[in-house]
Amino acid sequence: MIKIQCSNIQKLEFVYNILNKSNGELIFQEFYFFDSLVSTQDYAYKLSKNPDTCYPYLVLSEIQTKGRGRRGSNWVSPKGGVWMSMVFETDLEANDLFSMLILTAFIISDAIESHIHMTPQIKWPNDLLIDGSKVAGILMDTEIEYGKPTKVTLGIGINSNNDLVVTKNKIWDKTAGEIKITTLKSVNGGSEINNSELVYFILYKFSELIHKLNQKLYRNELRHTYRRRIEESLSDLSYKFRINDYEFKGEIVRVNDDGSVLVKDLEQLPNNKIVRIDSVFHSPLS
Ligand code: BTN
Repeated sequence: MIKIQCSNIQKLEFVYNILNKSNGELIFQEFYFFDSLVSTQDYAYKLSKNPDTCYPYLVLSEIQTKGRGRRGSNWVSPKGGVWMSMVFETDLEANDLFSMLILTAFIISDAIESHIHMTPQIKWPNDLLIDGSKVAGILMDTEIEYGKPTKVTLGIGINSNNDLVVTKNKIWDKTAGEIKITTLKSVNGGSEINNSELVYFILYKFSELIHKLNQKLYRNELRHTYRRRIEESLSDLSYKFRINDYEFKGEIVRVNDDGSVLVKDLEQLPNNKIVRIDSVFHSPLS
């Protein structure tokens, strides 16, 4: 039996809409949608500690008071955006989790494309951009037991209908100069995005594709497409990397199968030193 918990009738309708559209094809067992949470990611984690929770499940919140981004950054989450976390049980090995991240990026990219008819760029490792400005981000938290992942929480933040100026003004980490973010609404000529449709698309695609991650061939296919997508956007995007305290402008020369990249350190020219940057622990700065 599907479990639904919402903070008001509108949110209940949002979830019912999704369920009505799906004809029972969604794999999600529990739906939570609240007015405000500190972070959907943290709430999802708390639910996983309850032995009665059924997987996979979805947590949505209209606003997050302290949304989390990658590398410990803050993710500004005012009203109008899509802030959600999905929790899956997994049989994948730690090495293969990068395929799940890639799949997530592709699904969000397809969801955006189907709504605004623009193909987002994928910036390594998994940011989604439109015309060089960030429109969506993904955060993956993993629970590991005896060295093996058991549960994966995929946090998805999409700047959808949230006010662009309000969002930019709330970003306190302004170290990178101008903050290049955008919203789907603003690139869609100011027309509202149907967030319920957007979430439905994402849940539907996950329901269809997540099991395929158990096939090696599918994971290879994903990595192949990912490499192509990263390469396609290289000429448009600039990257900064950090290794410990050393920050540098770099050029990606190769995307490895585990998601790490070989990067040409552009600040060490003419020696062209090539360094390997891991996707999880040394993410780019911008
Ligand atoms: C990134 O830094 O690009 C990742 C951002 C991920 C933000 C989402 S919003 C929903 C979920 N809850 C969080 O606290 N973070 C993720």
